[in-house]
Amino acid sequence: MSVFKDGLLAGQVALITGGGSGIGAGIATRFAEQGARVAVLGRKLDKLEGVAQQIAAAGGQALPLPADVRDFAAVEAAVAQAISTFGQLDILINSAAGNFLSPAAGLSANGFRTVIEIDLVGTFNASRACFQALSKQGGSIVSITATQAWVPTPLQCHAGAAKAGIAKLTQDLALEWGSSGVRVNAVAPGPIADTEGMRRLAPDETDARSRLERKMPVGRWGRVAEIADAVLFLVSPAAGFITGTTLVVDGGQSLVGAGDLFG
Ligand code: COA
Ligand code: NAP
Repeated sequence: MSVFKDGLLAGQVALITGGGSGIGAGIATRFAEQGARVAVLGRKLDKLEGVAQQIAAAGGQALPLPADVRDFAAVEAAVAQAISTFGQLDILINSAAGNFLSPAAGLSANGFRTVIEIDLVGTFNASRACFQALSKQGGSIVSITATQAWVPTPLQCHAGAAKAGIAKLTQDLALEWGSSGVRVNAVAPGPIADTEGMRRLAPDETDARSRLERKMPVGRWGRVAEIADAVLFLVSPAAGFITGTTLVVDGGQSLVGAGDLFG
């Protein structure tokens, strides 16, 4: 159940990278509930089709777009397909990411580069590929980053660097693209329950979860729906004067630091 009135995104088209699972799928579903037609992009077609079928079963319209965000030509082709199917593009959500726990001293150069390329280069690729369409009628970009962007976090130097890069990219694109009517923002979630991200970062989920929940100001992990609603706010007219910012939606986790969660 969303706190927003129905039909907030009626007539709009959104493309969500990483829309085949987790937070990206939650955003796609929430946007469809609010009247948007959505395109979901990721590498694995079966996951994308699963999300698209669920949205269609609920009366929405969704288009699966298999592509790797590291491949600019593939992303460009997927964006063109979304526009030829739906006739326009109003919103881009960058949720695709890769992550794992690794000590910096044991991380290979290719491991570091892989995460930078999926998260940071992928966010640039999708933003660049969508810009022209978004600027036609005034659009909005929201990238999903993480608190690792500024909270020093053990075993996360690759993800932290990638997400910090996205925060800066968000500011620079907002600066350059504001005059074209395109707002560019980011959301930094804290630990979100029932996601691949937390399955990877807290493999002993029960223990890590109870440790972290005790430390967190709000006393619990977040829900996918809470991130989807924060993103919905940023793409809505209620946020029409907001650009270049990262909205932290972490239940206060970053106020107390990463601590031993990932250690
Ligand atoms: N620890 C250390 N290094 C790792 C690793 C781990 N757990 N997993 C992968 N790597 C390294 C690999 O060893 C490889 O480096 P090498 O060539 O020097 O050996 C490099 O990362 C690339 O791995 P590869 O499996 O070829 O990459 P990929 O492009 O197929 O997959 C990943 C990307 C590794 C990020 C994969 O986990 C993935 O697809 N993740 C998507 C889902 C996800 O991470 N969700 C959570 C989002 S927060
Ligand atoms: P997830 O379900 O694994 O979502 C990541 C998605 O990205 C997957 O659907 C994956 O699909 C896609 N993807 C990965 N590499 C890709 C590539 N090269 N090209 C295209 N798509 C690719 O994980 P999640 O936990 O929901 O994370 C979603 C976002 O939230 C990420 O940006 C993550 O950093 C951020 N975040 C999550 C948490 C959390 O608690 N979960 C906290 C902070 C931030 P394919 O494998 O099919 O490509």
